[in-house]
Amino acid sequence: MALLHWKPQYSVGVEAVDHEHRELIDLINAVHAEAQQQGKKANVVQFFGDLFKAISAHFALEERFMHEHRYDQLRQHKADHEVLLDELRDLMDEFEETKEIDNDVLAARLDAWFSRHFESHDARLHKALGTHPH
Ligand SMILES: [Fe+2]
Ligand SMILES: [Fe+2]
Repeated sequence: MALLHWKPQYSVGVEAVDHEHRELIDLINAVHAEAQQQGKKANVVQFFGDLFKAISAHFALEERFMHEHRYDQLRQHKADHEVLLDELRDLMDEFEETKEIDNDVLAARLDAWFSRHFESHDARLHKALGTHPH
């Protein structure tokens, strides 16, 4: 059972961007699935690393795109990205310490952020500028 599910209201109106966001949700679900498997906890760190790398790359691409277009809310949008990266770092540190993931907490912390960020910052950005080049 996946932890997070794509919802229609996550759509930013650009299929390529929605696709990337779906991939990030899949990676979160992979961390969750791995954490639920008994005896394979070493892998969770690896999955967290992959998730962190993918999210960082996605954010960097968006930020470069906003910068190139002198997007008016670059600063605020970037600040929200930093909040999520901090949140992920906290989750990774907690896991390193306790070797346990509370899936309800993971879901609550990441789902709240994703829905809010997709529906607000990303929707505004892609409505204004369309999709970014890959
Ligand atoms: Fe995004
Ligand atoms: Fe964003």
